[in-house]
Amino acid sequence: MGTRTALWLRHVFRPVWGTSDVSPMSTACLPEHTVYSGPQSAPARRVTLRTLRAKHARGEPLTMVTAYDYPSAVHVDAAGIDMLLVGDSVGMVVHGHDTTLPVTLEDMLLHCRAVSRGARRPLLVGDLPFGSYEASPEMAVRSAVRLLKEGTMDAVKLEGGGGAREAAARAVVAAGVAVMGHCGLLPQSISVLGGFRPQGQSAAEALRVVREARALQDAGCFAVVLECVPPVVAAAATSQLDIPTIGIGAGPHCSGQVLVYHDLLGMMQHPHHAKVTPKFCKQYAAIGTAIQGALQQYREEVAAREFPSAAFSPYRIADEEVAALERALHSDGMQAAAQAVAAAREAHNATYQVLAVVALQCVMAWAHELSHFLAHRRLGVNRALSLISNCPLVVPMATAFRKYHQEHHSHLGVDGWDVDLPTRLEASYICNLAAKLLWTTAYIAVYGLRPIIIKPKPVGMADMVNLALVLGFDAAVLYLAGVKALAYLLLGTLLGGGLHPMAGHLIAEHYMFLKGQETYSYYGPLNALTYNVGFHNEHHDFPQIPHTRLHKLHAIAPEFYSGLAFHTSWSWVTWTFLTDAEVGPWTRVRRRQRGGDPAPALIAEASLAAPASAALPASEPDVVSPEARKAAQVARMPAATAAAAALGKAAAALSPAKQAQASPPCRALAARLAATAAPQNSPASAAKARAARTHLPGAFADVTNVGGSASRARLRAQKAIVA
Ligand code: KIV
Repeated sequence: MGTRTALWLRHVFRPVWGTSDVSPMSTACLPEHTVYSGPQSAPARRVTLRTLRAKHARGEPLTMVTAYDYPSAVHVDAAGIDMLLVGDSVGMVVHGHDTTLPVTLEDMLLHCRAVSRGARRPLLVGDLPFGSYEASPEMAVRSAVRLLKEGTMDAVKLEGGGGAREAAARAVVAAGVAVMGHCGLLPQSISVLGGFRPQGQSAAEALRVVREARALQDAGCFAVVLECVPPVVAAAATSQLDIPTIGIGAGPHCSGQVLVYHDLLGMMQHPHHAKVTPKFCKQYAAIGTAIQGALQQYREEVAAREFPSAAFSPYRIADEEVAALERALHSDGMQAAAQAVAAAREAHNATYQVLAVVALQCVMAWAHELSHFLAHRRLGVNRALSLISNCPLVVPMATAFRKYHQEHHSHLGVDGWDVDLPTRLEASYICNLAAKLLWTTAYIAVYGLRPIIIKPKPVGMADMVNLALVLGFDAAVLYLAGVKALAYLLLGTLLGGGLHPMAGHLIAEHYMFLKGQETYSYYGPLNALTYNVGFHNEHHDFPQIPHTRLHKLHAIAPEFYSGLAFHTSWSWVTWTFLTDAEVGPWTRVRRRQRGGDPAPALIAEASLAAPASAALPASEPDVVSPEARKAAQVARMPAATAAAAALGKAAAALSPAKQAQASPPCRALAARLAATAAPQNSPASAAKARAARTHLPGAFADVTNVGGSASRARLRAQKAIVA
């Protein structure tokens, strides 16, 4: 059975005889993202005259709101309103007329039908429009019958209670149609009333209102609307009648209230309507302002080509079909169309590529979190999650990454232990833009292969399970979705760990952008997508604090972090890394031993090399070792630059003549020290440092950790990252 048939059956077989159960439908029942199916909740008990009478007898106020179309009817229905009036006010608030007079019966029928499709619970009352019932009771009956038969209303309303109207009401009731009367201000009679004026403001007028209301009751009306009369007049009529009075601009003493939908919601913001919004109407919302804002936003987003984005382009066509279409268009000679298809395909693919890369970067950041067992209290859950989330990366890495990453934390910067440190080979050769570009693009591959090459570890059972799972996943992707899908994921992993803005964190974390500072945090929006991996100083201080709390650590102990340089853009980090000649794989703090300060580690190296100074002529004093030792004393502090300065002095003491006479290891040391000693801002010494880097690649990585010159670009960079 189709949805439409089901709806129709529900509509036809809704209970005719209601009960007193009029509890409002929960708005939670409303469908979400439903385009054509309308309300999906179980049909509520229909409100009937019996329901209304029972409620009135219990002294409970009755509610009525107007509605004119399907969506407004759905809202009124969902709000649990007792009666829904398809008023001839439609002429003013929907059709834009100044009065209700132009509204025809055909107009009303159209609106009634739309409303009845949206409202299944409230009693539906259709207004008899001006000119459809005044001439004779027969005419009134004919029109009323049409509103029920063709408009699927439950009752009709007519205006006025004097002679002919009373007769018309009586005739319509006699014909079997429930009638709601309407006294006080009669919008259809403004011609004789002299405009939209409140009624019943004199005793005579008030008496007439009460009399007419009673006459309508006598004619068989089940309720009567009292419009724009003083509260006291409404109170008089209400206490005189047995049937309910429904007030609009008639004060609090009526048995119920009615308001016009658009007035109640504050929908009409244009000057014309603002003028006619009745002063008795309380606006429960400012929907008009919201509508206005929404429409403006829509216009702006379309103009900026932001809407519709991929998220709002839901309909798909298989790749093969697109290819077939492209071919068919070509062979039909429709080249422009074929090109458009090709362009759309490319754009579509590009969107998916971007999404895949972002998603896979999220997975990588998640893998980092899991490597610290921070996703769940139970170890096994973390292990299982890390194995599962490794699958979409299509390269097995979870178990190995965990082992190496733990060593990165326990032996930060220690040569041979921390495989996050680039090798000396990398530090020596990746020093110009092209090399850096290649290295950064393939960063994740380098990052994955480096540990296996320099520090292979025995393969355990967990590694085998990791391998089997990922290869199984790859095979399933290959089998189910083809080689393109697998390549798509692989490329996503590679690109996601390379030049992608989110991958900038791999460079940002430990490459020295400020001399002497080893670890950098990033405080920026991309933390939201990367499990706060940017809070890196915080993370290294407390690796067991999960990503959800790292920012709190920063907040409760700001004195430990606010003085440190930090990054605010990973893209900037990658760009600077590529373009600044002073930053590269060599700008890392390197230690000889676990926990050692970098500068003393250098000094230790200097001391080790000291025997080489024995190769100097006996007449020359050994300047290296004593000076280096002195520097080592100075360097017992976090500021590695002080050590650099001390080492610089030592280097200055080595004349070129001495260097020439020295053995190769001693020359290497001297050159290293010379590079270290380069005074800041000096292009000449920068060139010297570069030369040292080129000629003494093995030595360079160490000395530049604490030395090097500060080019203008570097200074700019420092300024930018120092808080
Ligand atoms: O047409 C209408 O909306 C009405 C209400 C004001 C009661 O008659």
